[in-house]
Amino acid sequence: MQIGNITLQNKVVLAPMAGVTDSPFRQLVKEMGCALVYTEMISAKGAVCAPEQTLKIAAFQPVERPIAIQIFGNDPLVMAEGAVLCESLKPDIIDINMGCPVKKVAGRGEGCALMRDPDLVLRIVQAVCASVNLPVSVKIRKGWDDANINAVEVALAAQEGGAAAVAVHGRTREQGYSGKADWSIIRKVKTAVNIPVIGNGDVLSPEDAAQMLEQTGCDAVMIGRGVMGNPWLIQRTIHFLETGRLLAEPTLAEKKALALRHLEMVVENKGEYIGVREMRKHLAWYLKGVRKAAYYRNQVMRATTKEELQKIIQSII
Ligand SMILES: Cc1cc2nc3c(=O)[nH]c(=O)nc-3n(C[C@H](O)[C@H](O)[C@H](O)COP(=O)(O)O)c2cc1C
Repeated sequence: MQIGNITLQNKVVLAPMAGVTDSPFRQLVKEMGCALVYTEMISAKGAVCAPEQTLKIAAFQPVERPIAIQIFGNDPLVMAEGAVLCESLKPDIIDINMGCPVKKVAGRGEGCALMRDPDLVLRIVQAVCASVNLPVSVKIRKGWDDANINAVEVALAAQEGGAAAVAVHGRTREQGYSGKADWSIIRKVKTAVNIPVIGNGDVLSPEDAAQMLEQTGCDAVMIGRGVMGNPWLIQRTIHFLETGRLLAEPTLAEKKALALRHLEMVVENKGEYIGVREMRKHLAWYLKGVRKAAYYRNQVMRATTKEELQKIIQSII
């Protein structure tokens, strides 16, 4: 699959997730063969007002390529200016967030609120495309609420504005992350547009990914929550899609080894104080399905140093 001049090596991409898909996490997912990763969302206004601080969140390592930097905002000029600043980091793609449901974003007319105004979508995509020399993609939802399901209209507006791909999460803003993702909307978008479509929502297993591809005709699948504490899902999904065979789930020893390495990388990237606090949630996710998980989770939540976390991970049996 192609997004502009960028070729994806397979059909599995990592969803942007604020507070989760930072550089260390993306590097681990990339090792699993992921075709494309996204940064956490970056405020275009923040990038313009405080470039140094904001662009820190968008920094990445060469091994993460191809990588999309995702921006959010609602003013075409500010979005264009923010995109230019992000372009200075030399990502492969600029992605525009049109799906964020949280009040702090959608309540200010940004994120998913853009879907309420397809004309604004067109103007923002046009402005960003005109300002950067990179492919521009958009990430949308099914619509605002059940009374306003307009993913097809918004995807067409984005395509007209020059977008090179569209990712569709099959939930409305009103649903947030609850209920079931409606994959039929992904099919409707795929039927309507000529640009590649990335399907998103509730892919939790390699079999789910195969079903989404089959049911919707989408060009690639985007996986979010399923990868939390389980980067192996990317590798297992790619393998299943390419061979029809399921790789074994990771062993406890493999989980412990990756968790230790992840901890090391996060502390190196963010320092011990922040790194330890951020790793608590990742370790809680790694512990899913582990015997006596609640006991270890409790210890992890109280740990304050890297060494304490290392000892807890090593003690898991
Ligand atoms: C913790 C969290 C943070 C997220 N942050 C972003 C974000 O920054 N940008 C974005 O476009 N979507 C964001 N999303 C939405 C995901 O990209 C994805 O669309 C959603 O989780 C559905 O996919 P899934 O069912 O595979 O998790 C976030 C989701 C979660 C759970």
